[in-house]
Amino acid sequence: MDLELRPGTTDDHAEILRVDGVAFGDHFTEQDAEDALGAQPPQFTVATVADQIVGVTGHYDFTMTVPGGGALQVPGVTWVSVSPVHRRRGVLRALMDRQVRDFAALGVPAAILTASEGGIYGRFGYGPASSVRKTVLDRRVTRLVQSGQKTSGEVQVLNAEQARSVLPELHRRWREQVPGALNRTEAWWDHLFLDREQHRGGMSAKFYLTHPEGYVSYRVKEQWNDGIAALQCRIVDYVISSTDAHAALWQVLLGMDLFESIESHQIPVDDPLPFLVNDFRQVRTTAVNDGVWVRPIDAAATLAARTYPVEVEAVIEVVDPLLGDRRLVLAGGPDGASCRPTDRPAQASFSLAGLGSAYLGGHRLSTLARAGVLRCDDPRLLSRLELAFSTDRAPFYGTAF
Ligand SMILES: CC(C)(COP(=O)(O)OP(=O)(O)OC[C@H]1O[C@@H](n2cnc3c(N)ncnc32)[C@H](O)[C@@H]1OP(=O)(O)O)[C@@H](O)C(=O)NCCC(=O)NCCS
Repeated sequence: MDLELRPGTTDDHAEILRVDGVAFGDHFTEQDAEDALGAQPPQFTVATVADQIVGVTGHYDFTMTVPGGGALQVPGVTWVSVSPVHRRRGVLRALMDRQVRDFAALGVPAAILTASEGGIYGRFGYGPASSVRKTVLDRRVTRLVQSGQKTSGEVQVLNAEQARSVLPELHRRWREQVPGALNRTEAWWDHLFLDREQHRGGMSAKFYLTHPEGYVSYRVKEQWNDGIAALQCRIVDYVISSTDAHAALWQVLLGMDLFESIESHQIPVDDPLPFLVNDFRQVRTTAVNDGVWVRPIDAAATLAARTYPVEVEAVIEVVDPLLGDRRLVLAGGPDGASCRPTDRPAQASFSLAGLGSAYLGGHRLSTLARAGVLRCDDPRLLSRLELAFSTDRAPFYGTAF
């Protein structure tokens, strides 16, 4: 197989859609193509055999909030697919290696992605860095503990046109508080508001509840069981910046007569909802999955971009089989951090994916050490590093890409 790699161009879009469509089981229409690749196409790299595209990867440019409130410019890897008749012959590996080398040449600090399957990307240095929780609750028996407070007065029901002008600012204020949260460009918002019927999973168009400090969008599945209402509410966006907004939005959601269940496929693992309601167990977690994956590329720049809640200094080795191992001295604290190359002996050694998993504070370093993706022979230093990498909010990316 004579494989060649090159940047993809707009002339390749039709073939890229064909390869991706077969891989994901989608028949893309012209409308889909215009929606997905018109206003904000990703930058593609394609793999060809005899001038035919057999594999694709791409990326969007994101700003990701890092612990401490700073921001990192990161490529979000997407549109990864290989034709089923060319699989398990190294096409993806060739694309991944080329893409990371290109990112390194551009001076990118780290790359991120979300994974269709959990077994693919660890080998390429991506570590699962945040988690998403799937929940469902029975609305008919769940009440806010402090439902006497008239918190819902500030909640508004908006139509899509009204929501389009209000949501971006609410989202911007939210994402600046949350490690791992991603920005959305105007083109991204336009795309979300297309809300095409074929992407609703058989449910309604989106409804919008807003509060001065957050919003929830949701879809509805109608169901009447022999005349007994049992509608289902599926939360799509869950963007809540304050305690008041939490209580107010949930007061409205829980008060929606005719609805049997409220479910969400993406809720932060540390969301306070179970503590807001009369029955902790009613907020049933039905799955916890990996969220965003991080692959450090310039590990020094990545580590220096966040802050650390306690002062820490350590020599860290980062094992990178593709771009070369690094030994770095990290000195950080609540006000900032520096991270520079050093010849001093390493006190802790991270695999690439291990550092990616540690970076946003989504996993305890002692857990990573027990898995062997982080090695540190000094238990006191490990405890210190664990504290230093921790965050007061669980990381959450909030934007599917
Ligand atoms: C996932 C996919 C891109 C892999 O492409 P591929 O060209 O067959 O992969 P490669 O031959 O380059 O495999 C590289 C390595 O990944 C492993 N791998 C590939 N697909 C895998 C999968 N689905 N699960 C676990 N490991 C996988 C291979 O075994 C190989 O491992 P090794 O190098 O450690 O021996 C392809 O199967 C595909 O298009 N799947 C459907 C679409 C999809 O899920 N895309 C990912 C979107 S996030």
